[in-house]
Amino acid sequence: MSTTAPTLLHLDTSARRTSFSREVGDAVAGAWRASHPDGTYLHRDLALTPVPQIGEAWTELCDHVLEHGITDIARYREAVRTPAQAAAWEIVEPLLDELVAADVVLIAAPMYNFSVPASLKAWIDQVTFPKMSLPGRRFVVAYARGGAYGPGTPRQPYDHHERYLRDFFAGHFAVPQEAMTFVGTELVNSRLDPALAARREAHDASRTAALAAARELGRTL
Ligand SMILES: Cc1cc2nc3c(=O)[nH]c(=O)nc-3n(C[C@H](O)[C@H](O)[C@H](O)COP(=O)(O)O)c2cc1C
Repeated sequence: MSTTAPTLLHLDTSARRTSFSREVGDAVAGAWRASHPDGTYLHRDLALTPVPQIGEAWTELCDHVLEHGITDIARYREAVRTPAQAAAWEIVEPLLDELVAADVVLIAAPMYNFSVPASLKAWIDQVTFPKMSLPGRRFVVAYARGGAYGPGTPRQPYDHHERYLRDFFAGHFAVPQEAMTFVGTELVNSRLDPALAARREAHDASRTAALAAARELGRTL
């Protein structure tokens, strides 16, 4: 995080190359880059180049940080005591450096099975340590989902995507709700599923609105 030129960290997580969450995320990033020509843009495609799942050595790093009350991220490396832990830290360090450097964290994330893709969960598990705090950052989620999960819909209680990410950002990174923005498109499955054909116009409208909101958001972040 900088006091001069800002940094945007953009994560993609859809298994698809041509994807609606990527489209919305790209709209945010494109507008942000146009309005911050001096800014630093970091992009990581977690679907194309997945980060590994955490292993036992990672849990040892985490336990050490917790046991010794280490809350300063710059001191996490003190937890490395064995070759296996050093190998685990080699994976964590660049991911953490990017996260810490970011003023804005933009995560393009489809809904998979009511929640986030495993590629994103693997990144979350790698970068999250006990009692972390990332003050002053903005978190933006560009989402796409096959159905509709808005207020009053029958599927609303099944939304463990936005709900999970809000709870995660707040509970683990101490991000206030006003520093999180969710923008995205829903009813994507109406493009394929004959049973949802009647919802196609609603999807098209949500996509158009999401792209406009994403461009405006990127410009003003
Ligand atoms: C593995 C998988 C699981 C999915 N699970 C859900 C789901 O639980 N609810 C839903 O509304 N859509 C679900 N979908 C549909 C996607 O959310 C939808 O296709 C969305 O557009 C995917 O984002 P993308 O276009 O960025 O790839 C699923 C799709 C895949 C591939």
